[in-house]
Amino acid sequence: MDYNNLLVEIENKIALVTLNRPQALNALNKDLLNEISDFLDEAEKNPEIRVVILTGSGEKSFVAGADIKEFSDFGGQQGELLAKEGQDKVFNKIENFPKPVIAAVNGFALGGGLELAMACHFRIASENAKLGLPEVTLGLIPGYGGTQRLPKLIGKGRAAQMIFTAEMVPAQRAFEMGLVNEIVLQTELLARTKAIASRIAGNSSLAIAKAIRAVNASDSKDGFDLEIRSFGELFDQKDFKEGVGAFLEKRKPEFR
Ligand code: CAA
Repeated sequence: MDYNNLLVEIENKIALVTLNRPQALNALNKDLLNEISDFLDEAEKNPEIRVVILTGSGEKSFVAGADIKEFSDFGGQQGELLAKEGQDKVFNKIENFPKPVIAAVNGFALGGGLELAMACHFRIASENAKLGLPEVTLGLIPGYGGTQRLPKLIGKGRAAQMIFTAEMVPAQRAFEMGLVNEIVLQTELLARTKAIASRIAGNSSLAIAKAIRAVNASDSKDGFDLEIRSFGELFDQKDFKEGVGAFLEKRKPEFR
C-alpha cells in the first residue's frame, strides 16, 4: 500500500489512515480521493485490517473541504460529475464499507471534510476541532452528501441552520448536537480512537459487517426485515459457535 497523499499504518488489525496534504489543510483533490478509494478496495480484502481510522495530518486540520482550486473554473456538468464521482467512489463506499470506519477529527472539518467525517460510521473529535459546511459562502451547496447526512445526525432544523449560516461549530457544540460521539484532548485523540477501534477489532467481524448494513438501513422501510435476516444468517457462521462456546466455557472468544 503505497500512496502519495495518504499515510497508512496497520497495527493490531487497525489501519490508521492519515490524509496527508498539510500544505492545503488536507483538502480533497482528485488524487487524494482516488487514493482513499483505492485504499478502501485493498482494505476490504486485507484480513489484517478489521477497523479503519481516518484522520488528518498536522494539528490544525482534519480536512478543509474539497480542493477549491481544482474546481474553480468548472461548469455545471463538471460540478455534477465531481459530486457524483466523489459520492460513489468515496463517501458512499465508506458508509457501506463492511468494516467500521471511524473519523478522528483533529481540527477543521469543513465542507467535504465534514462530509467525509459524516460518511464514517462515527466520529471522535479533539477539543480544538471546528466543524461546518461553508459551501454557501462559495455560491454552492454541499455536494458530498452533506445535505443528506447532517439532518439525519442532528435533525433538519439544526442542519438547515448550519448549512444556511455556514458557521463553524466548535467541538463542544458538535458533541452536544450528537455530531461527534466524544471530545478528547488533541494529544489523546489517536490513543482514544485506537482504544475504541481495538475493542471493536476483538469482536466478531462477521457480526459487525451485518450490524453496519442493518444500522445503515435504519432509515429505510426494510431495516427490520434486514435485521431479522442478518440475525438468522449469523447463526450459521463460525463466529456464533465461537462466541457462544466461549461464553459457556467462561473464556474470551477468539474470532478469526
Ligand atoms: N481547497 C484548497 N485549498 C485550501 C482549502 C480548500 N478547501 N482550504 C485551505 N486551503 C489552502 C489555502 O488556500 C492555503 O494555501 P496557500 O498557503 O497556498 O494560500 C492553505 O490551505 C492554508 O489555508 P489558510 O491560509 O486559509 O489557513 P487559515 O488558518 O487562514 O484558514 C480555513 C483556515 C478557515 C480552513 C480556510 O483555509 C478556509 O476557509 N478554507 C476553505 C474551507 C471551505 O470553504 N471548504 C469547503 C470547500 S467546498 C466543498 O467542500 C464542496 C463539497 O461539498 C463537495
